[in-house]
Amino acid sequence: MYLWVHYTDMVIALLQLPVAAAVWWAGTGPGASAARPSRTAAVAFLLLLGGAALRLAAGVLLLPWGWEFAGPRLVFVAPALVVAATVYLVWLRPAGEPPGEPPVYRSGQERVAAVVGAVGVVLVAAMAELAGTGAAAATGLAVLGASAMGWAYRKLRRRPAPEHAGWRPAAARVAVGVALVVAVAAGVSAASVLPARSSMTGGAVDTGGGAAGHQHRGGISVTELTGADTTAAGDVAVDRFTLTAQEATVRLDSGEQVAAWTFNGATPGPQLVVRQGDLVEVTLVNRLPGVGVTVHWHGVDVPNAMDGVAGVTQDAVAPGATFVYRFRAVQAGTYWYHSHEMSSVQVRRGLFGALVVLPRDAPVRDGDTVDETVLRHTWGSEDGVATLGLGSGVQRRAVPAGRQVRLRLVNTDGDPATFTLTGAPVRVAAIDGTDVHEPGVLPGARILVGGGARYDLVFTMPDQPVTLRADGPGIVYSPHGDAGPDHAAAPAMLDPARYGTPAATAFGTDSRFDRRFTLRLDERLGFYDGRPAVRYTLNDATFPDVPMLMVSDGDLVEVTYINRSGQHHPMHLHGHHMLVLARNGRTTTGSPWWVDTLDAGPGETYRVAFRADNPGMWMDHCHNLEHAANGMILHLGYTGVTSPFQTGSGTVNHPE
Ligand code: C2O
Ligand code: CU
Repeated sequence: MYLWVHYTDMVIALLQLPVAAAVWWAGTGPGASAARPSRTAAVAFLLLLGGAALRLAAGVLLLPWGWEFAGPRLVFVAPALVVAATVYLVWLRPAGEPPGEPPVYRSGQERVAAVVGAVGVVLVAAMAELAGTGAAAATGLAVLGASAMGWAYRKLRRRPAPEHAGWRPAAARVAVGVALVVAVAAGVSAASVLPARSSMTGGAVDTGGGAAGHQHRGGISVTELTGADTTAAGDVAVDRFTLTAQEATVRLDSGEQVAAWTFNGATPGPQLVVRQGDLVEVTLVNRLPGVGVTVHWHGVDVPNAMDGVAGVTQDAVAPGATFVYRFRAVQAGTYWYHSHEMSSVQVRRGLFGALVVLPRDAPVRDGDTVDETVLRHTWGSEDGVATLGLGSGVQRRAVPAGRQVRLRLVNTDGDPATFTLTGAPVRVAAIDGTDVHEPGVLPGARILVGGGARYDLVFTMPDQPVTLRADGPGIVYSPHGDAGPDHAAAPAMLDPARYGTPAATAFGTDSRFDRRFTLRLDERLGFYDGRPAVRYTLNDATFPDVPMLMVSDGDLVEVTYINRSGQHHPMHLHGHHMLVLARNGRTTTGSPWWVDTLDAGPGETYRVAFRADNPGMWMDHCHNLEHAANGMILHLGYTGVTSPFQTGSGTVNHPE
């Protein structure tokens, strides 16, 4: 329903642009000074009016979603409808007067002015939906300016609008119109070019109602936030790994060969398994030709300097160079790692892998349990070949009946994927690396796993096949290696807001928050970095213009994500875990629901909270990495923390 209203409204707004041009043409053209309006003008105007009425209805229909959804449409479209209807009734309504009385019309000049005004407000309303309030304001100004110039021209020349005079004036008007549109587009495109260097330090900030403090100056650099106090080796075990970024040709089991970028020649890269409490030391070696690379530990709350974001916490590691990451694996769970340099390209091409932190007291893995990470990935493009690991079809695994099985689902794509497990009673043991409190047994599982998110499933292997599907590719687990009957009824969709049972948390929906932020997520037509693009905006801005969310160490922070677009946006906050307090205004009732990547669906509103307890400069972005590359990135900054790194075409860093 939401999608339907949202996109219908958007399409109508889009169609209003050419219709408005037609009205303008017919209502102001040669002959406009004639007392009698043309039928064409009237008909086109009716279309414009009908569109505005439908858009107003869309605004009303969205009222249940809240004012953030309905308001902009009502506020912009309602005046447009009133102005346009008035103009139509007074100036453009074709003859239909009571018989016997001559039609009364205002002068052509008045009519032209009215039509221009009406077309202008409808355009402003359309631009507000399509390109945002800034573009709407610019459109309003442009219409005003053009009318003023036309008025002045005619006043100074003391002559009326030209009468019908063949095709020349018409061609001239078309040329002027096209030139105007092209000039505006070129200007907007040029203005959208990103600075060659931008620094995360010193830009606009949003303090969320808290004290501004010393924002950046004279503070501590992110490079000093290495967590040295917690990573002193001492008596802890050290897990050492080397990840070498290199090219390799990998073969999907569909037979397709992929020229991939890999860690250690494989993709997914090596699965890193460590124990909770261990010190993890990973040496990144870059052997890719001509491109930089980093490693980001997705979902692990590492010290800021180890976060691996090019241009924010380090420079991209140049070909031939190395970088050593050190952090303590504090929390057990399922995580993954991936490059955070040109991530929309590099993750897609294969620079990712799984990171599993086993609980401190878990028995050493023996033959009695099956513990498998299942990484879903789509190769080539969004519509490319989807796989689990490298398997695009249905893979088989032999698992003796009675074994405990843990499947760690990881969605490495940007779009959400539906995972379905049938054939055994199952529990959803963990979400984004945090255990679910008292997860109930489900007859089967169907889970919408958002981009970047992880869900752990546990079950006891029955004496029959168990089938896992992930929107296409699948795996069949069976005691004898045979295929399962794949016609089990689809289980109900898991609702993490109501799954499990409540447990005490350090803060919750009634806490007193030190900072509150609201982020409106939209899709807008326009230009990004000089190219025509769907811009994915946060409070109507795109990276690097989205104000940094400023917090102080120790703050309790509330963030409200309002997704007004028609797309899923898996919002990933680095370095922190967020507790989901409410969805669409309703408080969560199940287990505490902790996430590092929150998939906000179209029309959804989420209220989340986190403790600012990991000083640094942290990315907060949509993990649909194409969206991030089109602007959906902001940062969380701590007062007193600065970064010496920069991003942009003039640097080696392109984190998105
Ligand atoms: Cu998994 Cu900022 O990324
Ligand atoms: Cu997104």
